[in-house]
Amino acid sequence: MSKILVTGGAGYIGSHTCIELLNNGYEVLVLDNLSNSSDESLKRVQTITHKKLEFVNGDIRDRELLDKLFSENTFEAVIHFAGFKAVGESCEIPLDYYDNNVYGTIVLCQAMKAANVKSIVFSSSATVYGDPASLPIMEDFPLSATNPYGRSKLMVEEMMGDLFKSDNDWGIALLRYFNPVGAHPSGQIGEDPNDIPNNLMPFVSQVAIGKLEKLRVFGNDYPTVDGTGVRDYIHVVDLAIGHVRAIERLKSNKGVQIWNLGVGKGYSVLEMVAAFEKASGKDVPYEIVDRRSGDIAACYANPEKALKELNWKAERELEEMVTDAWRWQSQNPNGYAS
Ligand code: NAD
Ligand code: WQD
Repeated sequence: MSKILVTGGAGYIGSHTCIELLNNGYEVLVLDNLSNSSDESLKRVQTITHKKLEFVNGDIRDRELLDKLFSENTFEAVIHFAGFKAVGESCEIPLDYYDNNVYGTIVLCQAMKAANVKSIVFSSSATVYGDPASLPIMEDFPLSATNPYGRSKLMVEEMMGDLFKSDNDWGIALLRYFNPVGAHPSGQIGEDPNDIPNNLMPFVSQVAIGKLEKLRVFGNDYPTVDGTGVRDYIHVVDLAIGHVRAIERLKSNKGVQIWNLGVGKGYSVLEMVAAFEKASGKDVPYEIVDRRSGDIAACYANPEKALKELNWKAERELEEMVTDAWRWQSQNPNGYAS
């Protein structure tokens, strides 16, 4: 059986991906320092799948630990989720972001190279497209970054390009996620922000459950359908399945391969709020406030390359995204601490 090392596997997208890996017959070892997660997510992954996974509580920057894991296990590939992801925070503590996201990835790749494991799936982000000149976004659009978080993703993408140029045995999948939302349909795992959420969907969920008073909608004067920002929201289960497809593709294709993982359709903030209210039966009070600095008007993917090359397409519609998000929130009002 093939074994996959999943860094950051206890987190939001990682835990959902573990389910899809286990359900597709892979063995899984998760390396996570629990800096933004709880190992409760992994216990629940095992309950949902009726399968076991291994968990090591440790840091990707710990080279000694990595060497030990690579010598004790035969990994087919690494899926690399571990990192920090809050845009605003990355402007306040940029060095921590470069340390964890860039240096951490360097240490991981060095250990992989030493162990001759040369297949990696990396969590990149649509943020690397900056403010796109046109929509939908294709993989060959120009890249730019407006904050340290985005720059850390760009740096890793470029570094991986150099790595492949130096050694053509590497198989590298750069997955550019659009806006992951929703939760596993069991309601047992989902997104569990440590603090007040930065992202729209967890914020809306916490307003609906009464933990937060109201949503602040960042601007209603964008050139969009109703003036609020438009994004390509993708169900986290669809996103997780994309990782399994990428692993399968790497078995026969080397090189740096880039795929947008999005639905290909955009919804506005107010459309998301309306869909959430309908699914939950709860009111989501909001007020319109100034634009958030760094935000763009609209962003959605052209996901055709992933369809063609990975045979992957997002299947879950908006209603399923908000229904599953609400099931997780209402069954776990305090996340994994519930
Ligand atoms: P998350 O914070 O829920 O998961 C990241 C996990 O990595 C956490 O469990 C955390 O404890 C762990 N981690 C962090 N630093 C570590 C380290 N040095 N060593 C070991 N473990 C470490 O975030 P997520 O939403 O699941 O995102 C996963 C990846 O996808 C991240 O790289 C993120 O930048 C990227 N991404 C996320 C989004 C999004 O909106 N959620 C969008 C695009 C890209
Ligand atoms: C979505 C829309 C906001 C919160 C970020 C990162 C990106 C990626 C995904 C990691 C926007 C509006 C939000 C709120 C609001 N992450 N909004 N009130 O900004 O598209 O992307 O997360 O890689 O890199 O930049 O996602 O969920 O924060 O915002 O009105 O309280 O909701 O203005 O239009 P974003 P988001």
